[in-house]
Amino acid sequence: MKTAVVLISGNGSNLQALIDAISAGELPLNIAKVISNKPNAKGLRRACKHHIDHKCINHRDFESRLAFDQALIEEIDQHQADVVILAGFMRLLTSELVNHYKNKIINIHPSLLPDYPGMNTHQRVLDAKEKWHGATVHFVIPEVDAGPAILQGRLRINKDDTAEQLQQRVHHIEHAIYPLAIKWFATDRLSVVDAKTLLDGKESPEQLQTFDI
Ligand code: GRF
Repeated sequence: MKTAVVLISGNGSNLQALIDAISAGELPLNIAKVISNKPNAKGLRRACKHHIDHKCINHRDFESRLAFDQALIEEIDQHQADVVILAGFMRLLTSELVNHYKNKIINIHPSLLPDYPGMNTHQRVLDAKEKWHGATVHFVIPEVDAGPAILQGRLRINKDDTAEQLQQRVHHIEHAIYPLAIKWFATDRLSVVDAKTLLDGKESPEQLQTFDI
């Protein structure tokens, strides 16, 4: 079974979705450690409740981004992690860290990448009068919110949607697609060829799922 370290900064509802999938026997994965860069992250309490080893490495205790990332690397390597899962981790990672775990760091972002990288995605898609919105699970590369997409979940935007409503609906999608994408990784079904993620060696329609929510 593969071993994961999960990095969080806040609520940790995506962490919870992974824990629930593991508990339900749907996701063969050992979460060896949950690390937060914020001491009061709710996700740390979720880890505690499920008896998962957890700690805070506070970025404020370090003089530079690189020094913080080196502390992360030291901690992650102690667990011999096969995969580093970003679940609402709100720190930019240095290329030193990203390259240390090439094709082994996975992130979830609340937009249909490559559209809408960055923050406030829900309001921005509304402002642009988009028809579709959703979330993307992707491998992490040094550029922010980029890297080969693994799985996307999308929904149709309703005429009267607010940013808060959209955020909630996208969260439902995230909680469905993140455990599935991690399961594909954990069961060795993913490969990256020419900056594209293949499922069982080919591009698959399963990698874009439409949700009726
Ligand atoms: C999610 O919207 C995720 O896509 C983004 O940060 C948010 C984290 O939410 N990267 P949570 O902490 O998992 O509830």
